[in-house]
Formats: sequence, structure tokens, C-alpha cells
Amino acid sequence: MTPQLFPGRFPDTRLRRVRRHLWLRRAVAETTLAPADLIWPLFVHDHEMAVPVASMPGVERLPIEGIVRAAGEAMRLGISAIAIFPVVDPARKTDDAAHAYDPENLACRTVRALRKECGDALGIVCDVALDPYTSHGHDGLLKDGQIVNDETVDVLCRQAVVLADAGCHVVAPSDMMDGRVGSLRLALDEHDHDDVAILSYAAKYASAFYGPFRDAVGSASALGTAAGLGVADKKTYQMDVANTDEALREVALDIAEGADMVMVKPAGTSLDVIHRVKTSFGVPTFAYQVSGEYAMIKAAAESGWLDGAKAALESVLVIKRAGADGIFTYFAPDIARALAR
Ligand code: PBG
Repeated sequence: MTPQLFPGRFPDTRLRRVRRHLWLRRAVAETTLAPADLIWPLFVHDHEMAVPVASMPGVERLPIEGIVRAAGEAMRLGISAIAIFPVVDPARKTDDAAHAYDPENLACRTVRALRKECGDALGIVCDVALDPYTSHGHDGLLKDGQIVNDETVDVLCRQAVVLADAGCHVVAPSDMMDGRVGSLRLALDEHDHDDVAILSYAAKYASAFYGPFRDAVGSASALGTAAGLGVADKKTYQMDVANTDEALREVALDIAEGADMVMVKPAGTSLDVIHRVKTSFGVPTFAYQVSGEYAMIKAAAESGWLDGAKAALESVLVIKRAGADGIFTYFAPDIARALAR
């Protein structure tokens, strides 16, 4: 009998056929994760011992040697880069954040140790923002109850230059001041760092999910003092969670100013934004699965409420599916190990 194209009923499309076997599911998977998609954020401090971060089970603040060891592990696992976040001694925090551009600060010393050990085999990303260095924990300078933009940008430029001098490959401004990407590009170029890339946190939201990170680096208590000064949150510079068009404008400006790569943050609550950014601009797009996203999965897993490893993998895979080329995640080593199995 000659088969008819539409024999009076639906063609027998059965979508379950391609779900039947693991090999087939893998063969048709549209999105795959690889260790090279991952960037591992690490906290460094000036103590000899590793100290756990209570609100981020499994994450520790490490001494420089511990960071170097972690970098070795990252390379073995095929993770592409690590991102360094210093826990700065409160005695070093000032209103003018001057320690941010001290070439002997912890971030710079860590970068030098890493480059000595890893050369260019592992990417080193450094945050550019003043929150580890200000007595009030804000990412910018505070004058008369306002976070001042242009004075802050000057300090950010000095900070970026010492980090580049120390040898970082990428500076990642996470401060959300206007115009900082263009100024950073000029400052870096003037200091012969035209090879240092800028990954701008272009669309960074004023999010409740940064809480554990602020515990980890000690800026939460500092921000507490800022409450007394009338600026308890970061909403005058980080974006309103309600907006996405504004995110696209931020990205467009940062690209125009010379950003090589852009970041959306937090990742899990901004999958729509990641998608819009990637499809609108086609630039290297990163997303940051932040501390609170990590902590939620960990807490639920520790309570036995979900399978932590599976939830972690899924949460990162969907960030890739949304359009991210690379993902900053505290799960990076766990996921890289799971992918290797
Ligand atoms: C600081 C900075 C923050 C994070 C990365 N860089 C915190 C903030 O903006 O308050 C958050 C990362 C995380 O929560 O994992 N500029």
C-alpha cells in the first residue's frame, strides 16, 4: 500500500522516541556543558588557614597558597579561568578606598603568585569595584549621602592598572558606575595593558542573592554601617530587577566603550536577560550564578530536600541554554568533576 502523507489522522509523531535511550538523548541534546564554560570564583584572605564561609557550605576563604593549589586543580579539571575576590582586613578599609590601588594589596599579591605558577594556562579574572576597600562596603565613594560616579571611576582606573601590572588577564568591573568601561580601557592602554581584556558586569541587578558573598568578603557588616549614612543598599547604581530594556542599554554602552565581554548577574533570575543580550549583540556573554543561588541549592541538599549534584548541574546547564558562553559558578569544580565521569 502506498503510504499517504496525511491519511486522515495525525502523522505518528512520537517525541518520546528520541528520549528512549541515554545515547540518543545525548546525541540530540541542543546544549552541552564543558569544563571550559566554567569560571570558578575564589575568596582569598591573609591568614594561614582556610576558613569556611558559613552561608556557602563547601566554600572557603583560602590563603594565597590555597588559591594557587585551587588553580592547579582548576587546570587539571579543564576550567578556563578563576575569579579572585579578596577578603580585606577591616583595618585597611577607608573612606577613600586607597588600598584598592596599592600594588601590595592581597589581590595583587595573589595574582602575582598565580601567574608565577600558572603562566597563561589558566585565566585570571579580577573584580574591579571598591566594596572590599571602602569602610562602608559600597562599590563607590560616598560623599554627602551619595555614591559619587566620576571620582569613583578615577579610583577604579587606578585599581585596574595595579591588577593589570600584577598580571591579571581580565579585569571585571562589577561596580555599575557610568562610563567606567571607556575610562578603564583608556587607563589600561596608557599603561601598556592593551592586551588586558575587560569583562564588564554590564547588567548587574540590585539583588538579594548576593548576601552570602557579602558575608564571605566581610562587606555585609560594612554595609550595615552605611545604613546609618542613609545608603543601606546598592539600588542607586545596581539595576532594578524589574527591567530588561535597561539591561540592553547598559550592554550597548559598555560595548561602545570597549568592553570585550559582558556579564549578566545574577544568572538564574535573569535567564531572559541573558537570552536577549546574546541574541541582540552576539558578543561573548557571561553570567554569574551568585552566592545566594549556590547557597539555596546547598541548603536544600543538606536538608535532604533535593539532589544537590543534579540540581547544580541543571541550574548551570539552563544558564548555558539561555545563551551564556561562560558561567561564573561556585559549583565549577564539582561540575567539572561530574562532567569528567
Ligand atoms: C562586588 C561584587 C559582588 C558580587 C561580585 N562582585 C557583591 C555586590 O555587588 O554586593 C556578588 C557575587 C556573589 O554573590 O556571588 N562588586
